[in-house]
Amino acid sequence: MCGIIGYIGEKQAAPIIFSGLKKLEYRGYDSAGIATLNNGIHIKKDVGKVKDIHSRINLTDLPGFIGIGHTRWATHGGVTKENAHPHTDCSGEIVIVHNGIIENFQELKRELKHHKLKSETDSEIIAHLIEEEMENKGFVEAAKTALKRVEGHFSLLILNKNDKRMIAARRGSPLVIGVGKGEYFPASDIPAFLDYTKDVIYLHDNDFVVLDKNGPKFFNLKNGENIERVVSTVDWDAEQAKKGEFEHFMLKEIIEQTETIQKAINQKMEIVEEVVGDIKNAQGIFFVGCGTAYHACLTGSYLFSKVAKKHVNVVSGSEFPHFEHFLTDKTLVIAVSQSGETADVLEAVKTARKRGSKVLSIVNVMGSSLTRNSDKVLLTHSGPEICVLSTKAYTAQLALMLLLAYATAGKIEDGRDQLKNLYNMVYNLTALSKRKKLKKLAEKLKDKEHIFTIGRGLMYPTALEAALKLKEVSYIHTEGFAGGDLKHGTIALIEKGTPCITFVSNGTEKEILSNAMEIKSRGGYIIGVGPKNNDIFDYFIKVPKSSVADPITHIIPMQILAYQLAVLRGCDPDKPRNLAKSVTVK
Ligand code: G6P
Repeated sequence: MCGIIGYIGEKQAAPIIFSGLKKLEYRGYDSAGIATLNNGIHIKKDVGKVKDIHSRINLTDLPGFIGIGHTRWATHGGVTKENAHPHTDCSGEIVIVHNGIIENFQELKRELKHHKLKSETDSEIIAHLIEEEMENKGFVEAAKTALKRVEGHFSLLILNKNDKRMIAARRGSPLVIGVGKGEYFPASDIPAFLDYTKDVIYLHDNDFVVLDKNGPKFFNLKNGENIERVVSTVDWDAEQAKKGEFEHFMLKEIIEQTETIQKAINQKMEIVEEVVGDIKNAQGIFFVGCGTAYHACLTGSYLFSKVAKKHVNVVSGSEFPHFEHFLTDKTLVIAVSQSGETADVLEAVKTARKRGSKVLSIVNVMGSSLTRNSDKVLLTHSGPEICVLSTKAYTAQLALMLLLAYATAGKIEDGRDQLKNLYNMVYNLTALSKRKKLKKLAEKLKDKEHIFTIGRGLMYPTALEAALKLKEVSYIHTEGFAGGDLKHGTIALIEKGTPCITFVSNGTEKEILSNAMEIKSRGGYIIGVGPKNNDIFDYFIKVPKSSVADPITHIIPMQILAYQLAVLRGCDPDKPRNLAKSVTVK
């Protein structure tokens, strides 16, 4: 997965594309490049982060009012300058940027063996395919014909040296168009152009767009027909997508949770009631998500068991197709995703729809593929989440899970009250004094080889999420377990001083403390997270008592600890190595 952005209008394109690429870097950051059109094609690209490439080769001095750019997360071919986008055809007249996977790449490459490919990427083949078609067609028709032959996922921007138009197309991978006054910003995601406009056109799969200064013309790639697309206005603002006074987005987004949890519960009652009706009528409910969103699903299953007394199945997006045979037209699938673009979640939804099941999505990005492929949508309203690690979107997902569990139990007001009470708690949990205390703990942990996290009941998914947060950003090996499970093997790894973070919550206190004791007896260093200190703890992180909202209150100190560890270990908290924010490949 990668980020793409283009510009067509009356301003110099390269500086706008450069600033857009910086905003899209959460999608990929191993190499980047820009191409502009001005009496020929001008390209600059290299490996590294956008800012570092710019300091070496100045990306903003490329001339022209039309341009395209790309920030890469390698899938096909290593991280090299040749593999960085933009890519050109043999003649150097066609230039493309691409996000996605071309599945019939090998087949097309064999067919175009008389073309000279300069990179190992699957993307470059598209430029050559268009070149081939241009032998007997104009630019637009050649691009249409070429794209019909491409199998797989793409969002694409294409320029031709001899044409003042830009072509944009999507299938599977995200693409939206920012609409300014006489200027257009096709991009993978909205933050890329929020400095310039809040007006957006959401493209659908198989949309093929011809853009010039007079505006876009939309076609369906499959049947060539003209189509209409509407302009919507987003309620995100440019400030939300900026770091402001913060050094990193991760910290900014952790602190924003005081507000974002409250925004998440601000749902239209009619929709919540409809959803509750669907939940009650369903014969079989599946929660589906990936990564952090999967942990929100798992927490949801405990909440539904405890509060709504309702059985739900939880499946990770990538495993969902294996459950296809349980799906009927009475099944309800609740898909949870920050971006709404995670390929495995979209595939799960496709499988569900094929079987006639209903799909509800809990999603942060309005207009994303998931929102368009769902029967009903609950938006988490967290605003843009830029850090690759999900923090504020996660607690918003948890808040919605809690609200739905209470609503299903016929006690929505109780749920709402519990969540409203979180305002002060979350404010205090993210206060500077708390952050300083967690920095002290991070100093103790920063050179450890392993960390373990344990929890029971509602705290089990919290232990998994805490482990994910800590390892993905600090690169310290961290594993989460159900409190009772560590002794079935992993306890063999406990040595003198091995840290074990123990989540203590109402109802599971006795058992989890005895699990912590088992670890302490083998030399483990016990870090307790809970409302009450205990002699077993070598270090104590106090969190307020909040009952079923404990998954929210207990994870926040872990997000802060993960952040502090990353900073102390010299890791980039916003862009951990090898990761990308939305994984748009299976
Ligand atoms: C990637 C990100 C995770 C995220 C997961 C699901 O792996 O690195 O932080 O939780 O995708 O993303 P989604 O947008 O579907 O919530």
